[in-house]
Amino acid sequence: MAKKAKTAAKRGAKARTAAKPKARAPKLAVAPDELRSLRDLVRYAVSRCNAARVVFAHGTTDPVAEAAFLVCEALHLHPAQFDLFADARVTAAEAKAVLALIERRVTTRKPAAYLVNKVYMRGLPFYVDERVIVPRSFIGELLDSHFGGGDEGTSLIEDPLSVTRVLDLCTGSGCLAILAALHFPNAMVDAVDISRDALAVAARNVADHGLEDRVTLYQGDLFDAVGEARYDLIITNPPYVDASGMASLPRECLHEPRLAFDGGVDGLDIVRRILDEAGDHLVPGGGLLCEIGRGRAALEDACPELPLLWLDTEESEGEVFWLPAGMLV
Ligand SMILES: C[S@@+](CC[C@H](N)C(=O)[O-])C[C@H]1O[C@@H](n2cnc3c(N)ncnc32)[C@H](O)[C@@H]1O
Repeated sequence: MAKKAKTAAKRGAKARTAAKPKARAPKLAVAPDELRSLRDLVRYAVSRCNAARVVFAHGTTDPVAEAAFLVCEALHLHPAQFDLFADARVTAAEAKAVLALIERRVTTRKPAAYLVNKVYMRGLPFYVDERVIVPRSFIGELLDSHFGGGDEGTSLIEDPLSVTRVLDLCTGSGCLAILAALHFPNAMVDAVDISRDALAVAARNVADHGLEDRVTLYQGDLFDAVGEARYDLIITNPPYVDASGMASLPRECLHEPRLAFDGGVDGLDIVRRILDEAGDHLVPGGGLLCEIGRGRAALEDACPELPLLWLDTEESEGEVFWLPAGMLV
């Protein structure tokens, strides 16, 4: 080949290589030294997420709380330490790390909890990854508000110390089983999920919280996994999204296991099965605490005979019901 042609061929090869898409760090619209304090970074994160129309569907609808969580995680701080350090300056390297995390949140649309493999529930940390739904159940709060015993008239049980057997159906990351074990110190807790992947995450959380001797994990389809066992309390946050909800899940939720959401056409496929069988697994005086999201009207239409007691939390109304064992037989 003539020398000129050779050089052109080489140039061509180079040009083709250069044109290949490269994995590049996302271009930031801000330089790390423009943002000085933790508060500056949170304000930037909120603006960036709002501009990109990021959806907050994982336990909070509040972009400020999510931004503060991301900033604290990137800086290895507990969220409760944010106020203490809000006006502290960050180093350039820290700002760079925070900005990169914010950018990943916006560009991947992954829930923040997956990006940092952590979520806090009732102030406690839980490991999460894409094998489990990001925990955001209202049941954790309800254990504290309605299962504390005492005679103020709000408690649905007389004495948390008298609860000795709890079942957490559809346990996912194991978060509710763990919160129940901590709330009822004399209880042995069985936790069931159909997904082996989810149970691997749950096992890690049970070990992280040192509860291997009180929380037992079972793989199986609802009650099949526990034979004829009976419990003082069954708690469950089953899949309950109806077909139209499944068709319009926000992008963030598409990173989560479909199995964790899909409740069939009216969202009640699994809930109906739980209601049919729960009576055979409760002791007299026990009860079922079940979260069903926005399915209240559909459930009341389907089962008008059931005296469901709807429990509210700080951020929910009529999404969780309580049914005493006597009503389930
Ligand atoms: C909404 S998630 C709840 C997870 C966890 N309890 C929480 O509150 O974060 C529902 C869970 O139910 C599990 N699941 C779905 N169908 C099931 C079945 N037939 N039997 C047992 N678990 C099931 C899914 O794998 C998923 O982990």
